[in-house]
Amino acid sequence: MSVAKPLPHDAARLHVTGQARYVDDIPTPRDSLHLAFGLSSIAAGQITSMELDAVRNAPGVVAVLTAKDLPAENDVSPAPTFHEELLSSGEVFYLGQPIFLVVATSHLAARRAARLGEVRYSETRPILTIDEALAADWRFEEGPRIYGKGDPDAAIAGAAHVVEGSMEIGGQEHFYLEGQAALALPQEGGDMVIHASSQHPTEIQHKVAEALGIPMHGVRVEVRRMGGGFGGKESQGNHLAVACAVAARATGRPCKMRYDRDDDMVITGKRHDFRISYRAGVDAEGRIAGIAFEHFCRCGWSLDLSLPVADRAMLHADNAYLLENVRITSHRLRTNTQSATAYRGFGGPQGMLGIERVMDHVAHVVGRDPLEVRRANFYAEAPSSAAGGGPSAPRSPQASPPEDISGQAKAAVPQTTPYHMEVTDFILGGMVERLAADAKYAARRQAVAAWNAENPVVKKGIGFNPVKFGISFTLTHLNQAGALVHVYTDGSIHLNHGGTEMGQGLFQKVAQVAASRFGVGLDHVKITATDTGKVPNTSATAASSGSDLNGMAVQAACDTIRDRLAGFVAERFQADPATVRFEGGAVHVGTEAIPFETVVLEAYQARISLSATGFYKTPDISWDRIRGTGRPFFYFAYGAAITEVAVDTLTGEYCILRTDILHDAGASLNPALDIGQIEGGYVQGAGWLTTEELVWNDKGRLMTHAPSTYKIPACSDRPAIFNVALWDAPNRADTIYRSKAVGEPPFMLGISAFLALSDAVAACGPGYPALDAPATPERVLAAIERVRA
Ligand code: MTE
Ligand code: MOS
Repeated sequence: MSVAKPLPHDAARLHVTGQARYVDDIPTPRDSLHLAFGLSSIAAGQITSMELDAVRNAPGVVAVLTAKDLPAENDVSPAPTFHEELLSSGEVFYLGQPIFLVVATSHLAARRAARLGEVRYSETRPILTIDEALAADWRFEEGPRIYGKGDPDAAIAGAAHVVEGSMEIGGQEHFYLEGQAALALPQEGGDMVIHASSQHPTEIQHKVAEALGIPMHGVRVEVRRMGGGFGGKESQGNHLAVACAVAARATGRPCKMRYDRDDDMVITGKRHDFRISYRAGVDAEGRIAGIAFEHFCRCGWSLDLSLPVADRAMLHADNAYLLENVRITSHRLRTNTQSATAYRGFGGPQGMLGIERVMDHVAHVVGRDPLEVRRANFYAEAPSSAAGGGPSAPRSPQASPPEDISGQAKAAVPQTTPYHMEVTDFILGGMVERLAADAKYAARRQAVAAWNAENPVVKKGIGFNPVKFGISFTLTHLNQAGALVHVYTDGSIHLNHGGTEMGQGLFQKVAQVAASRFGVGLDHVKITATDTGKVPNTSATAASSGSDLNGMAVQAACDTIRDRLAGFVAERFQADPATVRFEGGAVHVGTEAIPFETVVLEAYQARISLSATGFYKTPDISWDRIRGTGRPFFYFAYGAAITEVAVDTLTGEYCILRTDILHDAGASLNPALDIGQIEGGYVQGAGWLTTEELVWNDKGRLMTHAPSTYKIPACSDRPAIFNVALWDAPNRADTIYRSKAVGEPPFMLGISAFLALSDAVAACGPGYPALDAPATPERVLAAIERVRA
């Protein structure tokens, strides 16, 4: 069977030889035009005049469009309740906002001309920071949203220690290698074909149709692949696709747009930055009796996906810890900056960092090993079941069922999250035990302490964090997927589904599913570009659920065809269709083994349909996001990481010495691809919390708008020793071949790098480091000075 094999990415060869085709590589008709936006040079105010003659007269310019030239809707927002203009019709909300659109004969001509616009504004004072937004009470929801359970205030008041603080958490630029890009090809009768670098072809179709004022059936969107999306291509590609469509309509010619890297960084949204303040009551062991969090989420100027992002941050405020008395208050603040958007983890990482910071702080206050403090707060381990193997592990202290006076153990009270969902699949107890043993945690902690006692300049630190990440879209109706499978008469299989490929290996995993259903080799299966004309009404490939949803839909489509073939063969051999097996390239019935190709050809000649659609919807989920109750997630994915760092205390510079990860991908569909996701996710997460710093000046200009000023991890920044292992136990939930989603959860393992830096700084003096994120060398140096004081 193809599933579970560590096969390479289906396009690996194309990627490394440069043959893989991205939007900008698609051969375009000779008369194609190229687009660039003219951007606002202020962060807030009103446009008073626009002088665009110089733009129109610039070499190569064919047309210049403003808001009033648009044929229908001027709205690229993914949120139905918010209007986000493609081109400003007067009011300006951030520095970098598109104001006019240049259509020219070349990419460079369009970009050069875009600079020649003379736009005058009446400026107002921009609201840029969390404090300014709070002072102005500029928000996306009236007042804060609050989830919780128990009585945190009473629990904190009665606790042995109260630990409180606040941390700043920076945003993050997606830095996909392929920038945003789109191409519009006008068709007969006003129809439009769009090629886009997008995680959400259906939304591109929807937005283009609205912008052109035509039904969705007049627009077909194709996505072969992205050179990375990471959430940055869920909604932020709408602008380019719509711009290409309206320019193609206006000129009757094919139009292409791709952002230059600096423009991409200045125009598009990033990860939300947060301030998280906390107040926790703990006992002498560091067990949390009660806790209150306040999340301040900087959403930027437009609503975009900010509400579900802020919700998901709240839904991960518990991470792996049972909190009986808890309140999470979330403020969704509006600012005159790029509209913050989806980014790997979708708010989860920020919420999780909040409680991991609390655990770090608590361990410092009670003077216990941070790993032990975490273990003392874990949810109770799920009893191992038939479906979910894995070594059983010691239960955490809260795990023992309460005893009544007669001494008989009662059934354990269900343990619930702060949003009242029962946690039944917790496996981190066993996982952490294994990881700590494999990584020799205890011995290495001692070695680090010994090193630090001897060495005044270079200090080492070791950090640990667990991850529990909820899998499913919190907007319940998005948890559906479709597929379309054709079997041709030579036995080859053509496969489509609604998911998009962005490097994560979704196509390969789904092809493995199809090959396994038919019992044929992978060479029989071809997955082609995602296409709204083949599989309609799809959700974004997001929330890590691409393989969960599309794998199931593909399985359903394959099984429909397989059942027809089985019925056909069974009839001929007068056998029970249920006994027909598809294996090793043949269809087995009784003692016969007929080549798959032969069965297919004969079925065709017997006029049996060899094509089917498949559909899947995730069962058993429901969620009330206003009240904060329900079962938003089908299951949880788990992971744990231990990172060791060294810090130069004279400069604040640091490096990661070693990382050990144990991650739960269920029964992996493809261990090679899953380990790739884990390595990449960890490095990206560590980058977020260490060197990747976004800086805006007091006018709202993004100062870090190129790789020269924005530092993503390089190959040389990865851990010198990097051990990644899979926790090999099937998902307890009924997912495709009992695998688990793996796209986002490992990102949050990067938190261990941040905690290791905090640990190293703590070795410099008695104070608590209270590091903000990202922990750039400057911040680390400042924290070293702070703890010494
Ligand atoms: N891996 C690569 N190589 N490139 C990407 O853009 N995006 C991440 C993750 N892994 C991404 C990636 C994000 S944000 C998500 S939601 C998932 O992949 C989406 O794919 P999946 O649902 O198929 O896992
Ligand atoms: Mo991923 S942030 O859900 O695209």
